[in-house]
Amino acid sequence: MSPTILVTGGAGFIGSHTCVALAAAGYTPLVLDNLANSDARVLDRLARITGQAPRFIQGDVRDRALLDRLLREESIGGVIHFAGLKAVGDSVADPLGYFQNNVHGSWVLAEAMQAAGVRTLIFSSSATVYGDPDRSPVPETAALRPANPYGRSKLMVEESLRDLHRAHPAWRIALLRYFNPVGAHESGLIGEHPQGKPNNLMPFVSQVAVGLRDKLMVHGGDYPTPDGTGVRDYVHVMDLAEGHVAALRHAEKQPGLVTLNLGTGQGASVLEVVKAFERASGKEIAYEIGPRRPGDVPSNWADPALAESLLGWRAHRNLDQMCEDSWRWQQGNPRGYESEKL
Ligand code: NAD
Ligand code: WQD
Repeated sequence: MSPTILVTGGAGFIGSHTCVALAAAGYTPLVLDNLANSDARVLDRLARITGQAPRFIQGDVRDRALLDRLLREESIGGVIHFAGLKAVGDSVADPLGYFQNNVHGSWVLAEAMQAAGVRTLIFSSSATVYGDPDRSPVPETAALRPANPYGRSKLMVEESLRDLHRAHPAWRIALLRYFNPVGAHESGLIGEHPQGKPNNLMPFVSQVAVGLRDKLMVHGGDYPTPDGTGVRDYVHVMDLAEGHVAALRHAEKQPGLVTLNLGTGQGASVLEVVKAFERASGKEIAYEIGPRRPGDVPSNWADPALAESLLGWRAHRNLDQMCEDSWRWQQGNPRGYESEKL
């Protein structure tokens, strides 16, 4: 018996890696993705890693009729809901678009699940719900004060699902707050390829290493941190993927709702990431220290103890491994899935 798990947004960065972890754990992923920020060629790569491409439905999570049909016709044991938009700057420019996709999309999905009697849901939340935390490590009980519409969209969905669970305690829900997911599957066949200029540190650094960009602009060197640059909790995407499997197994055991940080519990500064990437790639990463980026916080790393005690999960891969795997992916696929020469 291999339960089918509907993976919304399963063609994306974290979703595709989670398909690998699901297959390894004996589940059958069924991917629903509108390809707004992904490439269907990821499916061939997944076939090369796992031996079988997951079934793929190109469609939108806001399409209620499609969800009703999928939940009726497929025997779906649970849903991992990654589908959403994630660019903080875009969310500031288009808040309604973000609420429409991320919040309304999650409501449509939850309604369809409720109607179909499928009540196991793992939701992609984000450490961004904490905003600028009073201190790190950040426990799940820290104040929730997201600083932008993207973060607020995640908090609105969290709160909606908490209310849903209060009204219908038979639901089994995990709200997973990821810190900074990076890295790639160790095969180098799947990874992250942002469209245009990367907003996030690791893809930017790897594009400098591979020669696509001249130098990294370090956003601020005067933070109250050991070397003055921002500190974050970078977590390997395969550790994160395995965290989803652990959350699913936990939800299968009993009804309930859990809210969990997924991070390593260790902070790394921008310059530490640069040095680790230089070691992994053997390339020098040119950088310049520039002004702070508006909206950035000095430090933000997780207290992941609750995930360990409830799920028995913790991150195993260190920063060197994150950089080595990012580099393998970047070098083999400098233009992402466009680089189809393998
Ligand atoms: P991603 O953009 O690579 O993946 C999201 C996927 O969802 C994409 O394939 C996109 O095409 C799809 N999608 C978007 N809207 C859709 C819709 N309405 N219907 C169907 N498919 C849709 O992003 P990711 O990094 O893999 O993130 C996955 C989830 O995790 C997102 O919800 C994101 O907000 C959340 N998250 C990401 C990070 C991060 O830094 N990457 C951190 C915390 C939380
Ligand atoms: C990390 C550090 C930057 C780029 C964002 C979202 C958050 C979450 C994860 C989804 C910071 C510095 C970066 C660069 C730099 N996503 N940096 N030069 O800001 O922690 O989180 O992604 O939920 O919501 O806000 O990640 O990778 O952008 O930045 O110096 O070119 O790298 O200032 O200190 P961030 P990031």
